[in-house]
Amino acid sequence: MSLQQLLGTELPLIQAPMAGVQGSALALAVCGAGALGSLPCAMLDAASLQREVAALAAGTSRPWNLNFFCHTLPAPDAARDAAWRALLAPYCGEMGLALPAAASGPTRKPFDADTAALLDAMRPRVLSFHFGLPPPGLLAHVKSWGAVVMSSATTVPEAQWLAAHGADVVIAQGLEAGGHRGLFLDSDLSTQMGTLALLPQVVRAVHCPVVAAGGIADAAGVAAAMALGAAGVQVGTAYLLCPECSTSAPHRAALQGAGAQHTALTTLFSGRPARGIVNRLMRELGALNPAAPAFPLATAAVAPLRAAAEKAGSGDFSPLWCGQNASGCRAVPAAQITRALAAGLRAANA
Ligand SMILES: Cc1cc2nc3c(=O)[nH]c(=O)nc-3n(C[C@H](O)[C@H](O)[C@H](O)COP(=O)(O)O)c2cc1C
Repeated sequence: MSLQQLLGTELPLIQAPMAGVQGSALALAVCGAGALGSLPCAMLDAASLQREVAALAAGTSRPWNLNFFCHTLPAPDAARDAAWRALLAPYCGEMGLALPAAASGPTRKPFDADTAALLDAMRPRVLSFHFGLPPPGLLAHVKSWGAVVMSSATTVPEAQWLAAHGADVVIAQGLEAGGHRGLFLDSDLSTQMGTLALLPQVVRAVHCPVVAAGGIADAAGVAAAMALGAAGVQVGTAYLLCPECSTSAPHRAALQGAGAQHTALTTLFSGRPARGIVNRLMRELGALNPAAPAFPLATAAVAPLRAAAEKAGSGDFSPLWCGQNASGCRAVPAAQITRALAAGLRAANA
């Protein structure tokens, strides 16, 4: 069965879920153009999730994807948290802000039984996960809806693990990708590969459809991924300037500047490695500073700095998530980006 048959879409194209910069508006625009629109749910509380899912259901009869994180919440570590806040203190002083309070709780919740219960009535048709899969009982609950389950793999062993543990589709996330690395079996960043190396090896290693993600920004990139055996393509960064995204003004400015050529993996904004445009905080503290608390506890202390800086028009303290190939970013409707990417599918079939 082809990916589009499995997903129920016209095109084997997926708009990557992008927590923090988009909601149902982007997903609906992409669904309207025949691809799979995604709603990132990791940062939504129950009321927002219900509202956004209702907007999707009301806005289209086509399938859409709900995306959740599957991390294990870390035990609080007071010493590490204090060291982290001490590192941020000079910046707070510079900006006239009080010292950040100790982390009060997680900013991103893993997929759990409450969320599954909330979705029971809706029986979503497609779900994707980042950082592995939910525990077996919860995954069985999702599968009882008849849902197609996708998850990101950043290495061949992760792809094999996902296929063996119930994923219907594996998303091969190359190192070029913007946002969080989906890694979950091994935290050693030297295991991470670029899309060109990862994709064909994953295609050979698993029997389910494989979706390529990371660095794909135009029709030629789509055609290249399909030539390497991808069943479809997932694209995130290229949508970031679309009017349907809520990307902040400093983030939009960074994406359009020469600085977008320089991205790095950083743990400073959440505690897990994620790719963003190099900014002041990353330059000055080191993008992978070991003082950053474990995911997702690093976020809280940076939040006041981020808010104050953004208010002044600066992205110095913001996660400027972006992949290594921002050349596809255009401030045009998402349907136009989707159609441009779809031309690569026709080229691949010709
Ligand atoms: C701004 C941004 C936010 C992201 N947030 C998520 C997320 O919430 N969940 C997820 O599974 N992937 C997330 N990703 C990663 C994407 O799923 C995908 O791997 C990546 O966008 C593909 O590479 P590209 O950005 O080069 O197109 C995010 C990516 C970006 C750029």
